[in-house]
Amino acid sequence: MNVHTLNDVVDHGAIAVCCGSGGVGKTTTAAVVAIEGARRGRRAVVVTIDPAKRLANALGLDELANEPRLIDPSRWDPDNHRVPGGELSAMMLDTKSTFDGLVTRYADSPAQAQRILANNFYKNISSALSGTQEYMAMEKLHELHEDGGFDLIVVDTPPSRHALDFLDAPARLLRLLNNAVFRMLMVPTRTYLKIAGAAVQAFIRTVSRVVGTEVVDDIVAFFRSFEGMEEGFRTRAERVVEILQQNETRFVLVTSPQRDAIEEARYFAEQIGNHNLAVDALVVNRVHPRFGTEMSAGLRARAESLRELTFSNRNQREARDRLAARYQNLGEFNEIAERERAHIETVRVRTRSAGVAFVPYLPHDVHDFTALAEIGRILFAPPDNDARPPSTGD
Ligand SMILES: Nc1ncnc2c1ncn2[C@@H]1O[C@H](COP(=O)(O)OP(=O)(O)O)[C@@H](O)[C@H]1O
Ligand SMILES: [Mg+2]
Repeated sequence: MNVHTLNDVVDHGAIAVCCGSGGVGKTTTAAVVAIEGARRGRRAVVVTIDPAKRLANALGLDELANEPRLIDPSRWDPDNHRVPGGELSAMMLDTKSTFDGLVTRYADSPAQAQRILANNFYKNISSALSGTQEYMAMEKLHELHEDGGFDLIVVDTPPSRHALDFLDAPARLLRLLNNAVFRMLMVPTRTYLKIAGAAVQAFIRTVSRVVGTEVVDDIVAFFRSFEGMEEGFRTRAERVVEILQQNETRFVLVTSPQRDAIEEARYFAEQIGNHNLAVDALVVNRVHPRFGTEMSAGLRARAESLRELTFSNRNQREARDRLAARYQNLGEFNEIAERERAHIETVRVRTRSAGVAFVPYLPHDVHDFTALAEIGRILFAPPDNDARPPSTGD
């Protein structure tokens, strides 16, 4: 079994997909991986989806940054240690403008593009339909991959349990394009109702009753104005599936060691497996360190037996209480660390082929290049940080 580590992702990956549940550190990890790639001489781009505002500022991204922007090396490599040729770009996925861009790029004529962009149904789905964000992330990945110019594309994923829907997005789109109703709607005249089967007619009539005929007309107009473009969507969707299955595509699963996040991580690992893909690297972020080698139970027992000691001297009693409180506190702290390690094990059994890297809970947010570099040093410290969670003093 191939064990890929984060080092391998950065050195040999062409695409790195960072996934995991919301708030665990996907965007942070994606940025750190791209920076490390650039430091090692690769032309790297990070596609962020929902960067914290201060991180977006640090990366030089504003709302209009739907295309990659080159970041001045002095910002991410202030000591000038990068391998020559290394470049870092960043962008922020904007679902609607990506969709608009596709329409403009692939329409047969400017008039067709205009018709689609002005359609009410299009306006709604292009920003609001669930799954559109996941799908557009994949279209963006396709665009960056096919246009070339980057040798490491790091993609962040949407912050929801459905984040991995992007794996299904191409298949879902293919299903939609193959769907009978869709095909009927694509018939280029309004005779569609006449030739449509009874089931489709009933469906359209029901939908009309619920949402109004105007909306249905918009939808029909939308699909009709898409005529000729669906083949392109189908081809790209198939291509994305191929890209995700390529050898040089790596999946980085990010999690925190808390129970909820771990459960989600297990779910993500399962989803990835269901698509015949594998988690290549597991990043466990915000891990509490364990202090010393003594287990929490032993530390608590020490606190207990200290409290049982009797002293006639008041100073001694106070010292005893202070020491007992410290042991108690250390015991509680290590208990958190022990519990986290037990949680982590439950993911590791599902991602056996993946290298694991641990990042401690830092006392500050990660919103600038200095903090990103700090995480980079931890993740990429030689030898591979894939042996065990951080601990102090053992
Ligand atoms: N190891 C860490 N220690 C402390 N704060 C962190 C750490 N990793 C990430 N953060 C902070 O946690 C928040 C969530 O991280 P983010 O990367 O945006 O998560 P996600 O993209 O998974 O939602 C951010 O404010 C980030 O700065
Ligand atoms: Mg994020």
